[in-house]
Amino acid sequence: MMTKEYITELKHRGNGDIANLINAQKDVGSIVFVLESLGQLPADFHADFLYGLLEHNHAQVRLNAVKNIAKLNGKSDTKPLLVLYKNENDTSVKREIVSAIGRQRKCANKPLLYEFLNDTDPKIVCQAIRGLLVFDNDKEVEEHLKPLVNHENEMVRTVIYKEYFAKEKSTYPAFYIGDSLTILKQIPTASIDFCMTSPPYWGQRCYENGGIGLENKPELFIANLLEITKEIKRVLKNTGSFWLNIGDTYKNKALQGIPWRIAIKMMDEQDWILRNDVVWNKHKGAMDSSSDKLRNIHEMIFHFVKSKDYYYNDDAIRQNPQTTTVRNGAIVSSSGVSGVRYKRQIELSTALSKEEKYNAMRDLEQVLQKIQNSEIPDFRMIIRNQQRATHSDSERVSGRAKELKEKGYYFLFYNQNGALPTDVWEILPEDTQNREKHFAVYPEDLCKIPILATCPPDGIVLDPFCGTGTTNKVAYDLHRKSIGIDISEEYINIAKKRVAQMQLNLL
Ligand SMILES: C[S@@+](CC[C@H](N)C(=O)[O-])C[C@H]1O[C@@H](n2cnc3c(N)ncnc32)[C@H](O)[C@@H]1O
Repeated sequence: MMTKEYITELKHRGNGDIANLINAQKDVGSIVFVLESLGQLPADFHADFLYGLLEHNHAQVRLNAVKNIAKLNGKSDTKPLLVLYKNENDTSVKREIVSAIGRQRKCANKPLLYEFLNDTDPKIVCQAIRGLLVFDNDKEVEEHLKPLVNHENEMVRTVIYKEYFAKEKSTYPAFYIGDSLTILKQIPTASIDFCMTSPPYWGQRCYENGGIGLENKPELFIANLLEITKEIKRVLKNTGSFWLNIGDTYKNKALQGIPWRIAIKMMDEQDWILRNDVVWNKHKGAMDSSSDKLRNIHEMIFHFVKSKDYYYNDDAIRQNPQTTTVRNGAIVSSSGVSGVRYKRQIELSTALSKEEKYNAMRDLEQVLQKIQNSEIPDFRMIIRNQQRATHSDSERVSGRAKELKEKGYYFLFYNQNGALPTDVWEILPEDTQNREKHFAVYPEDLCKIPILATCPPDGIVLDPFCGTGTTNKVAYDLHRKSIGIDISEEYINIAKKRVAQMQLNLL
């Protein structure tokens, strides 16, 4: 009887005895048994008969012949394997051939492996990827492999994503131009730590490439957005957070209640857990000529999580206890700002008109009152020709600079209390960056608390409607990797430039 022990003994005799044994077998099952029993092959193994078996008419025999040829590693002959690959119909044999060629670890095989990447069988593509990944830090290999992150097959996409994007040390954002839903579908399940986005408002803005928000009924807009939130939930890790900033719209005098209609559907239909409904007090709203309702100056930011085990670093957002005091009759903020100096600067200013001085003084008094009432813990006032505008003095870059020019002053509000920040955020809108191109950039400050509190330091940030890339810029600033998707190539180009500028500033 032919036993494994007997086959092992013949293998070590090393004078072609295995080849003779195989020749003597009458049925396919026995040939396969010998081939499967061979185990490790000795260095002096007579392997020629294995190449002959590549022409055997039974796929199981060819498959096991290839498996044994693969064990020869660098010593195996590529040519007969390639000939078989071209003529082979059995996909498992083809897979084994690609594996065998990959295991040779020869640079000369790289072009072959690139070709295998085009195979229609995703398992063959994965074998080729494995064969190529042995070439560490090889730019040419990377150039061939990285685009496969958009491969039609999820298994292929996941391998590439894990290899290149999850392990990527660089925090330079990855930007994608295209429809958010289509691109989201290509992102592997449970691979993202944090998502923050501001989708287009319904019916209000017309972005250059169309996209979401142009539906003729709010119900359709909501349905489209829910498709997106469903995908966001899929790509988020169990510990992930999703911050959704969304504005409302009036139609025929009726406020549509769109933010809450979406939030409620997300909870009821998609099982999201809502942790906070943050009111973003923008301090100023869009132009509003109506005289039969109040001015709208807030927007909603919802914090959703996927499970109760979500990541939350409260220490990252707690600040020193607020100690507003009264000194010499003046209110002093937690960082020592009393307003006295600002008042003097306004009074003595030669750069402010009479009316601007009056407005500046009135608004300063209001802010100081809020400090006294503990409504705002701290603030800074920027007055024309006195303080430097944040970001840039150039009006083209900074909307605040523009505000300074038009109004003569503006305020920056800080949150410095020891307790966690409240769910009302006092943040001036950033009608700053590239105003002429894009009208709905959100302020960088809006993303800071969400990222610091709910994205781990080594986590991945996603913004599926990234526009000019504010979320990605802040993620980059806070040393997190990020992905940004937008339908507009022009906005993505702006986003890339914003982060590139930051890179230069850091150097
Ligand atoms: C409110 S803006 C986002 C602004 C962004 N937060 C910023 O700071 O620049 C919404 C963006 O969604 C994009 N958009 C609209 N429909 C889209 C779609 N179907 N897929 C991808 N992006 C889309 C628009 O091009 C626009 O840039």
